Amino acid sequence: MATNIRGRNYLKLLDYSSKEIRYLLDLAKNFKDMKRAGIPHKYLEGKNIVLLFEKTSTRTRCSFEVAGMDLGMGVTYLDPGSSQMGKKESIADTARVLGRMYDGIEYRGFSQELVEQLAKYAGVPVWNGLTDQFHPTQMLADLLTIEENFGRLKGLNFTYFGDARNNMGNSLMIACAKMGLNFTACAPKELFPEESLVETAREIAAENGCEVRLTESVEEGAASADVIYTDIWVSMGEPDEVWETRINLLKKYQVNADVMKMAKDTAIFMHCLPSFHDTNTTIGAQIAEKFGINEMEVSDEVFESKQSVVFDEAENRMHTIKAVVYATLC
Ligand code: CP
Ligand code: NVA
Repeated sequence: MATNIRGRNYLKLLDYSSKEIRYLLDLAKNFKDMKRAGIPHKYLEGKNIVLLFEKTSTRTRCSFEVAGMDLGMGVTYLDPGSSQMGKKESIADTARVLGRMYDGIEYRGFSQELVEQLAKYAGVPVWNGLTDQFHPTQMLADLLTIEENFGRLKGLNFTYFGDARNNMGNSLMIACAKMGLNFTACAPKELFPEESLVETAREIAAENGCEVRLTESVEEGAASADVIYTDIWVSMGEPDEVWETRINLLKKYQVNADVMKMAKDTAIFMHCLPSFHDTNTTIGAQIAEKFGINEMEVSDEVFESKQSVVFDEAENRMHTIKAVVYATLC
């Protein structure tokens, strides 16, 4: 039967089957080819979408804006300070108002419950642009980038270094399990993903012929890896006070040239971005001054190396978000 996800929300990968994820990846590839060839694809002219951001963003916001405009739609952006949501108006009321005006709603914010609630009341598709627990639009870009590099997904060894219980660790574990990649979280025990989510991921992985592993050993995590992935050590919404403990917990998990040498020769380096790989950011400079480290989750050498595909990954955010928006609204 043909895959059809018209009218669906896109809140977390757990809600999507492997076949539906495959469909979205193939659709994204088509959109990427069309964009590269300069073929117009204003298939959704006359529709309008709204982007609600309670946390900052570069890639996700711009991807939704460009995707929306390429598809011929009107796009409204609401930043953390410029809507009534949360302060003077509940999520349920906001959802019902926006659902009367727009054909789809993107939401980036704090708890997963908020985006689920928005979807419950909106009456139009809601897309999760990142919550504390999941970052599902990032997953499609990551899977597409991996497939572009290796020509396949199934059977590859994927290792995530760092805070494995944040939105990226959680989402990547589920994405790998759904698409048949062996997933390893390489982190200190304190930062392993929640047990119940690991159990769920292992059940999904068993259906797709792959495994989910957790290790504290950098050597074990890096050995035989095809993909080495990391994310910032302190996520949006976490208090500044956690930096010191987090640095102490994660410094031995920095992805540097030694780690890349332990992986396969053909391994690629990935990061959702933004990244602290030098001191050319306000926070990077402050951390350097306070804790004496110039690079955090990834060394500048690896970030800038040939193995790094981080900017392909960033570009793919747009093509994959376009696929999600189109498939749920068409
Ligand atoms: N990777 C990602 O979501 O980037 P932004 O925070 O810039 O949207
Ligand atoms: N874990 C990061 C991801 C940013 C795209 C954060 O939530 O800040």
